[in-house]
Amino acid sequence: MPRALITGITGQDGSYLAELLLDKGYEVWGVVRRASTESYERIEHLRDRLHFAQADLLDQPSLTAALQQAEPDEVYNLAAQSFVPTSWTQPVLTAEFTAVGVTRLLEAIRQVNPAIRFYQASSSEMFGRVLETPQSEDTPFYPRSPYGVAKVYGHYITVNYRESYDLFACSGILFNHESPRRGLEFVTRKVTNGVARIKMGLDDHLTLGNLDARRDWGFAGDYVDAMWRMLQQDEPEDYVVATGETHTVERLVQLAFDHAGLDRDAHVRTDPSLIRPAEVDLLVGDPAKAKEKLGWEPSVDFEGLVRMMVDADLERLSGAGGATRG
Ligand code: NAP
Ligand code: GDD
Repeated sequence: MPRALITGITGQDGSYLAELLLDKGYEVWGVVRRASTESYERIEHLRDRLHFAQADLLDQPSLTAALQQAEPDEVYNLAAQSFVPTSWTQPVLTAEFTAVGVTRLLEAIRQVNPAIRFYQASSSEMFGRVLETPQSEDTPFYPRSPYGVAKVYGHYITVNYRESYDLFACSGILFNHESPRRGLEFVTRKVTNGVARIKMGLDDHLTLGNLDARRDWGFAGDYVDAMWRMLQQDEPEDYVVATGETHTVERLVQLAFDHAGLDRDAHVRTDPSLIRPAEVDLLVGDPAKAKEKLGWEPSVDFEGLVRMMVDADLERLSGAGGATRG
């Protein structure tokens, strides 16, 4: 039975990846942080089938101990401070988790078992003020947030450990991917949850920032499959994972309100305080390499993703006893 260790197992991607690996017959270990209250909501349904190691990306000995305990064949590093606006208010902590944390984990792998295959969660946020469109594995980086800068470090330290120590280390440059398990502060979920709350009469309006930003949005369930495929190749390489389509935040808003049968103009407000100090205006990825080498294709399109998320939020809130309005 192959064994995998996932950092960030309590997050959106960690929960989908754990499901995928369990289905494939893996013994799955998750790194969890100590907290006064547990946050296992996204993996509650899998909990009996998972193993846990308590560790933190800030603490090297705990990572070494987690690897010794789990003895994994594959490590997926999904843990990070992943919310871009927080990276301006907590830039040093973001660097510690999202940048130097990668080195701590790679060093632990080198010490415990250099044969472990390693996946690093790199990000399209590294392209930032994009230098070409669409963005591919060869597009230079120009990060626009402390988060993006930290991810560039994480990306290059992964490449460097592959080249310096011959580790099987891959970086997946993933474009935005969403799901009903997305954190509530990210724009897709903020919109679909906001629409559902308005529909149920729990709120009257939704306040957003920059509606002109464009993103290449896919479904998280599809993207974790690409992560696994990268670690099954003969050679470790880096891959862009994206749909190849881009849409504005405004289009996301319009689709979500339409799907719920609500008038967007009656409920959407904007607030300049939600505009970022430096914005990433346009992301659209070229997934040709992932398609060709990994045989990977997205299975959910943008409209389908928005419908899935609005429906899931409506269902969740109906269960909580809200009453719909037209
Ligand atoms: P997420 O939902 O925010 O989950 C982040 C996870 O990291 C949580 O499980 C969190 O644990 C854990 N974590 C944070 N700091 C940690 C630390 N110091 N030590 C151990 N664990 C820590 O993120 P996601 O959307 O699943 O994304 C997964 C990864 O992919 C992240 O690295 C993100 O930056 C990257 N990425 C995401 C996207 C996207 O569109 N979703 C695109 C490209 C790259 P707690 O539950 O304890 O907070
Ligand atoms: N969060 C948020 N809230 N974003 C808003 C809002 C709002 O009220 N209004 C407009 N936006 C715009 C942001 O300015 C940004 O241009 C876009 O919506 C997407 O924002 P997020 O959903 O917060 O995601 P992100 O693109 O900044 O970052 C996500 O994707 C990266 C990959 O490109 C995160 O998942 C990162 O961790 C990931 O690396």
